[in-house]
Amino acid sequence: MSSESSELQWLRTEVAALYRRNRQQGHAPWAGRDYDFVCPSMETYPFQWLWDSCFHAVVLSWLDVERAKSEVECLLANQQPDGFVGHVTFWQREKFESVISGYDIAWRSKHVTDCIQPPLLAEAVEAAVKRGAGVDWLKKVLPKVRAFYDWLDRMRDPDRDGLIAVVQADETGLDHSPKFDALIGSPGLTMAEFTEGWKRVARPYDAFQRDHAQMFALDHFIVEDVMVNTIYVWNERVLAGLCAQAGDAEGARVMRERAERGYRSLVEKCWDEERGLFFDLVGHVAEKHLTHAVTFTCLMPLLFPELPSSTADRLIAHLEDEKMFAAPYPVPSVAVSDPKFAPGVVGTKLVWRGPTWMSSNWYLARGLRAHGRADLARKIEQASLASIEKHGFREYWNPFSGEGHGAPDFSWTALVLDLYETRA
Ligand code: GLC
Repeated sequence: MSSESSELQWLRTEVAALYRRNRQQGHAPWAGRDYDFVCPSMETYPFQWLWDSCFHAVVLSWLDVERAKSEVECLLANQQPDGFVGHVTFWQREKFESVISGYDIAWRSKHVTDCIQPPLLAEAVEAAVKRGAGVDWLKKVLPKVRAFYDWLDRMRDPDRDGLIAVVQADETGLDHSPKFDALIGSPGLTMAEFTEGWKRVARPYDAFQRDHAQMFALDHFIVEDVMVNTIYVWNERVLAGLCAQAGDAEGARVMRERAERGYRSLVEKCWDEERGLFFDLVGHVAEKHLTHAVTFTCLMPLLFPELPSSTADRLIAHLEDEKMFAAPYPVPSVAVSDPKFAPGVVGTKLVWRGPTWMSSNWYLARGLRAHGRADLARKIEQASLASIEKHGFREYWNPFSGEGHGAPDFSWTALVLDLYETRA
C-alpha cells in the first residue's frame, strides 16, 4: 500500500470516528421534528451552524450519504417563510443555556439567529447528489435551496451588482478578522473589547427590528466581503447546475446570469492592480472604499478557473512568498507581514487573526488545482494532515509550528478528507 493510500485510510477511519463523536440526534418539540446533524465541537459549539454544517455535509457525503442528506435537511428545517436560513439553529437550547449566555447574537426566534453565514448550501447539496443522494431528493430540497439564494439576492444586494453584503462581522464567519477592526471601532485584543465593538454595530439594528432597508441606510457596517462573495458566486453556479439536473432550465438560466454578474463585479471592483490582491468593498451605495488588511480572503477568487492567468499568477505568487502566505503549515489567515498577524492564540481566543484554518485551505487548494498548481495544493493538504496527525482535529493551528489551538475535535477540519478523496 502506498503511503498516500494508507494516509487516506487513516483519515477515513479518524473522520468517521470524529463524526460519530460529534453527531447530535434527538427530537426537538419546538420544531416538531427529529434532528440529526454534526456539531462543530462538543466543547464549545454544540449547535448547528450554517457554513459548518455545509462543510460537514461535504465530508459526510464520503462517509454515509444518508447522513449528508439529513445534515442538509436539518439545516433547511430552520428556513423561514421568506427563504432566510439563520446562521445557528439551537436544536437543544434547553440543554446548553449556560453556553448560550456567553454568546452575543441576533435572534430571529428563540431557536434561530437572524444572521447569515457564507452561503455554501448549494455545494453541500451537490456533494450529496454526486455521491448518490438521487434526483428525487434533489427535487425535494431544490425549491428550498433556491428560496435561500433568492432571499440573499433580494435582501442583501441592494446596489444590484451581484455581490451580497454582510451587516456585521460574524456574518462572514471570520469573526475577529483584523480586516474589521476599524469598522467595529479599533478594539484592543480582549474578547470584552470585541463584544463592545460588535454591540456598537448590532445594537442600533435592534431599534428597528433589523429591518433591512434601515440597516443598509444606517450604513455603518456594510461589507461586500471577497470570501463571502466568492462562495456566493460559486454556489450560484453550482445551483445552476443542480437546477439543470432537476430539469429546471429557467432556474438554471437565472442562476447563471446572477453568477456572471457577481463574478464580473468581483473582478472589476475588488481587484487592486497595484497590490495584486482582491479587497472587500465597504459602504452602501455611493462612496464605497476598499479595506486594506491583507488576509487570505484577498486570494479567494483563485477558485474561479476562468480568472485571467495574469491575475491568478499574482495571487499564487503571494502564496509562495514567505512574507505573505508561504508558512510551513499554510495558509495563514492573515499575511505574515501584516502588522496584525499573530500566529497563535490571541488574547482571549480571538479567531482569524493569523492561524491556519481548514475551510480556507479547502477553497485555496481547489483554486490552486484549477490553475495548474497541484504541487502547491498538495503542500497545503499534506501540511494540514501533518498538523491533524500530531495535534488532532483542532479548530485552527499555528502556521509556523502546526500546533493546534481552539476547539478540540473540530468537525470542519475533516474537510481535508474531501481534498484527499478528490485527488485520489
Ligand atoms: C466561530 C467561527 C465561525 C464558525 C463558528 C462555529 O465563531 O468564527 O466561522 O461558524 O465558530 O464553528
